[in-house]
Amino acid sequence: MSKTASKLTITAALPYTNGPLHIGHLAGVYVPADIFARYWRAQNREVAFICGSDEHGVAISMKARNEGISPQEVIDTYDGIIRKAFQDFGISFDNYSRTSKPVHHETAQAFFKTLHQKEVFQEITSEQLYDPEAQAFLADRYVTGQCPQCGHPEAYGDQCEACGSSLNATELIQPKSTLSGATPELKETKHWFLPLDQYESFIDEWIIQGHRSDWKPNVYGQVKSWVDNGLKPRAVTRDLDWGIPVPVEGAQGKVLYVWFDAPIGYISSTKEWAEQNGKNWEDYWKDPQTELVHFIGKDNIVFHCIIFPIMLKAHGDYILPENVPANEFLNLEGKKISTSKNWAVWLHEYLEEFPEQQDVLRYVLTANAPETKDNDFTWKDFQTRNNSELVAIYGNFVNRVLVLSQKYYDGVVPAAGDYKSQDTALLEAVGLMPEKIGQAIEKYRFREASQILMQLARLGNKYLADEEPWKQIKTDAVRVQTIMHTALQVTAALAVLSEPFLPHTTQKLKKMLHLDALGLDWQNIATAQELLPKDHQLGEVQLLFQRIEDASIEAQIQKLETTQNDTTAMTFEPQKESIPFDTFEALDLRVGEIKTAQRVPKTDKLMQMEVDLGYEQRTIVSGIAQHFDAASLIGKKVSVVANLAPRKIRGVQSQGMLLLAEDAEGQLIFMSPEDSNLPNGAVIR
Ligand code: 2FM
Ligand code: ZN
Repeated sequence: MSKTASKLTITAALPYTNGPLHIGHLAGVYVPADIFARYWRAQNREVAFICGSDEHGVAISMKARNEGISPQEVIDTYDGIIRKAFQDFGISFDNYSRTSKPVHHETAQAFFKTLHQKEVFQEITSEQLYDPEAQAFLADRYVTGQCPQCGHPEAYGDQCEACGSSLNATELIQPKSTLSGATPELKETKHWFLPLDQYESFIDEWIIQGHRSDWKPNVYGQVKSWVDNGLKPRAVTRDLDWGIPVPVEGAQGKVLYVWFDAPIGYISSTKEWAEQNGKNWEDYWKDPQTELVHFIGKDNIVFHCIIFPIMLKAHGDYILPENVPANEFLNLEGKKISTSKNWAVWLHEYLEEFPEQQDVLRYVLTANAPETKDNDFTWKDFQTRNNSELVAIYGNFVNRVLVLSQKYYDGVVPAAGDYKSQDTALLEAVGLMPEKIGQAIEKYRFREASQILMQLARLGNKYLADEEPWKQIKTDAVRVQTIMHTALQVTAALAVLSEPFLPHTTQKLKKMLHLDALGLDWQNIATAQELLPKDHQLGEVQLLFQRIEDASIEAQIQKLETTQNDTTAMTFEPQKESIPFDTFEALDLRVGEIKTAQRVPKTDKLMQMEVDLGYEQRTIVSGIAQHFDAASLIGKKVSVVANLAPRKIRGVQSQGMLLLAEDAEGQLIFMSPEDSNLPNGAVIR
């Protein structure tokens, strides 16, 4: 069966309705998912592109508490804002639902009940953190403390944002209630646990042994490291007053854990859509021919690759995801995007400044998408991509072709005469584009796909610049007809192939070319058919893109700086006890120089380096790989604890330690004798 014959269920992570969306959301999840959905629809595949608002969980009730309003008011406000942003940016969901709707409550409760009846859950009474002042159990974000994995002082009860570890609240060191600031006590309570440990071999066979080699290395790597560390049972219920009531006896006052109900939101959203459109939702979730793909950010990997698949497997009659193309994070002007610090470009604010330029942002976020590593959005890069690519290449090409067609032929496509080799070469290159772009999209390489599209515009632009019809018109008007006929074919191909990336531009361009009447698709381009026949009447010319001036970019940078709210002062770890001078003297600190560096295979954090201490060369392993590229380390002068007893780390003997400091954002900085001319091996006192 060919791929296009099977149905495709595409989900995009349900955003929490506790704040508006920013560029990180678009770049990480929604733009790539939308390109994928639009592409497959263009191949005539039956697609269900599903999303909705994630309206439960502590993030929402905390927001309500902080603002003195009800959780319902919070979700209604942000559901509206988020919905509008998706619409404005042309994210073409087939259905956008809400987890507060009855269809979702019913679906999630039925799912829980089925697992309960199948005796999948373990009912465990355990001691949980309890705030004696607020008289409430402290789940998830209601408690912070030190991360047991990386030492980050502000880890949450469910996850450490510094190292990405998923945590149980009781594992936090020195926990503190975010409700009252009190130190929590332990108090007994009963919960329903999903025994992930019992499904370890399922995950292992399906993902690890099943060699999902087409999955992104970051996704596969995270799953593998989870499995290597051993899966543990996880509570899927909580003692909270906001959420979906647990639908079994003896669960008074308890709700489903938000990460249990949210992914079921994909199913309930599909149901809602199917009911409204005369479809059968089960075709999209239970037919083994159907492909299911989850688009998410990297912080959601464990939930979509381990926990939700285990839920689906335990239920017994669902398909499993074909792929989970998670993206890394997008930074902004070199710093992590932060809602609380207001270090973000909010989508609704972007549209106030650049009202007609949704596609520019879509394009920039795609061309610079954080597909394989965290990436940086800068306003300067935004300007350059707009001015030098969209305006100077794409827009310029289309505009020249259409203006000249109006001028020479009153907007009627001229007939082609004899083709020269450069004409046929261009037309052949156009014919290859659908497949090239398609292959990149099917492999989830959206950056690459966007650059192939731009390459098409570039080819067209170059062709015009080489042929110079505006000069030839004076000497050889017949030749110019062929040139313009050929160039017009390229504009038609651009209009069709741009649709997944630049939907608003495509609409405009189609109108300018009167393309709707012709019903062209990807297949017509691939078969090198004539796209715009002679005598076809073109429409009115409009500008597709506009230059963005320095002043407007500077205003954006200025705005970021002035509206940022950097009150999250550095959190200081408690100072350790004082040590006698002798103990300090026992430390041998030296200047070293990094000679080679490579990430320790199959780890996210560890970097293995050869460090020159002047009198000898050492192998040192350090947990810095998420902060520095290997290449950027070579030649760096660093401070080294030279007499630390060697330790084996992931099979490598590490002979010493590098000294680094951590700034308020959790970035590591070398305690470095960098700018000096100190010889390697010099003593640091
Ligand atoms: O991380 C988040 O924003 C979550 N609201 C994503 C949920 S995805 C899904 F499972 F619903
Ligand atoms: Zn951590």
